Amino acid sequence: MSDSTADRHILVAVAWPYANGLSHLGHIAGCYLPADIFARYHRIAGNRVLMVSGTDAHGTPITVKADQEGVSPAEIVERYNPRFHEQWDRLGVSFDLFTTTMTDNHREVVWDLFRTLHANGYIDTRKTEQFFDPEAGRFLPDRYVEGTCPSCGYEQARGDQCESCGRTLDPVDLIEPRSKLTGVTPEPRETEHYFLLLPRLQEQLLTWLETREGWRPHVINWAKGFVKDGLIETAVTRDLAWGVPIPPELDISTEASQKRIYVWFEAVTGYLSASKEWAQRQGDPDAWRAWWEDPSAESHYFIGKDNIPFHAVFWPSYLLGYSDGADRPLNLPTNVPANQYVTFRGDKASKSRGVGRSLLDYLDVFPADELRYALSTILPEYADTDLAEDELVRRINDELVAAWGNLVNRVLAMTRKNLDGVVPDPGALDERDHALLATIDQVLAEEQDLLERVELRQALRRALHGAQETNAYLNALEPWKTVKTDLARTATTLWAALQAINGLKLAFAPFVPFASATLDTWVGGDGELNGRGWRREELATGTVLGEPHPLFRKVELPE
Ligand code: MF3
Ligand code: ZN
Repeated sequence: MSDSTADRHILVAVAWPYANGLSHLGHIAGCYLPADIFARYHRIAGNRVLMVSGTDAHGTPITVKADQEGVSPAEIVERYNPRFHEQWDRLGVSFDLFTTTMTDNHREVVWDLFRTLHANGYIDTRKTEQFFDPEAGRFLPDRYVEGTCPSCGYEQARGDQCESCGRTLDPVDLIEPRSKLTGVTPEPRETEHYFLLLPRLQEQLLTWLETREGWRPHVINWAKGFVKDGLIETAVTRDLAWGVPIPPELDISTEASQKRIYVWFEAVTGYLSASKEWAQRQGDPDAWRAWWEDPSAESHYFIGKDNIPFHAVFWPSYLLGYSDGADRPLNLPTNVPANQYVTFRGDKASKSRGVGRSLLDYLDVFPADELRYALSTILPEYADTDLAEDELVRRINDELVAAWGNLVNRVLAMTRKNLDGVVPDPGALDERDHALLATIDQVLAEEQDLLERVELRQALRRALHGAQETNAYLNALEPWKTVKTDLARTATTLWAALQAINGLKLAFAPFVPFASATLDTWVGGDGELNGRGWRREELATGTVLGEPHPLFRKVELPE
């Protein structure tokens, strides 16, 4: 891990949501919230963050849904795309660019990748058998076929991937396959496709994986195991009429079948195309290079565990093949901090509610910071984690409101009431005051280390610990009592508590950014924390304090 001084270039690459439904809390805790926490931390620390994603508009997840509803795939995308923007705004997910895979720029970047891999000898045509639905008269790529997983026996496996064991599949691998269109047993038919010749990259991939440090065990072990098992040639085009076309001079579509680039080939390329689009929008078309070509730049890919094959093996393989012989090779992922799943096993009622509710439904009930806090306490970083609504409520009311929100209010209100609402002259500190400030500084240092390692749950525990220690300090020093007898001591206590709160403002900021910005304006700041540096700044004596109102509110179970 490089050092934590300012000015590092950090690409925060976040999985592109399929435009076939609204996001639920599992998606948010899976990758969007973690990515945002990480990005916000780095921005505060003074690093140059580029956080990109967009709507994944192509592939059979979209067309299957469109077929079911009897509408065009474009209509499905147009329905969900604006909802994504709305939910990022409301939850405070701070993308530098959230675009779509339907732009001209994306197509150009995908074509460049496809052509270069073809020219470098890593993509070539192969005759292959694909399932065909004789009743519908169509080829059945990916999710148009369901059946039993040959690996784990799961009976609802989809043609592209088994949701149960994570293995990537070809529809013809499935046992007892059935057509999603008509239910009939599909027949294999010959067709031609472009294949990525992965065996040619196997050794380089493994060598690269061996050099990765600090990856979560479940990610690196899965990736190494997958590569060691032996990579096979993998189709990167499909018999489908929706998606990024094949570069015209390489197109092998026939009258019987339109062909498109496979969604998992082009969507991951979105990280690069979105970076280029961002640069163009900045008016500096080369600005993306600092994140992709400078070997000291970092890239962190936030995804759910079902996406591990595509980000830890396939995307790196495209980048390796593309950069083969290039003057300026593109950077491979620094880390792929994939999360496990959020499950909804809890009590039955909350199960059906939890699964049935979208993020936007929750945002109607919980304010953004409160929801972010609660989800941050259950991020599935190392194991599947159950989501229970009463637990979310408890975390908000007992931890966020009671330990942090009330602390801020109490200290600001007491200072306003007794010390004219300005940061007092501290007078002489004793060891209890020094100990409190040392604790807060230690909290920030330990939290920083955890944030760098994407241990976000534990990082938040450090911030909460800092708030609890500050509460304990106040309970021991009782400024509400000393105010009657010893104003100088009271000023020292409130001074130290104000400094502690000012440090904790940063500690909580990646998790509850709206509240920390508000708090900043109450202690003389402008609410903009980016670039401040990850350290406690001392509030100057005489700083005028704002009038506080509750930073958070207690919540109740939805419904
Ligand atoms: N749309 C995919 C999913 O929801 C994720 C795509 S990530 C990308 O699982 F990198 F490929 F875009
Ligand atoms: Zn399986």
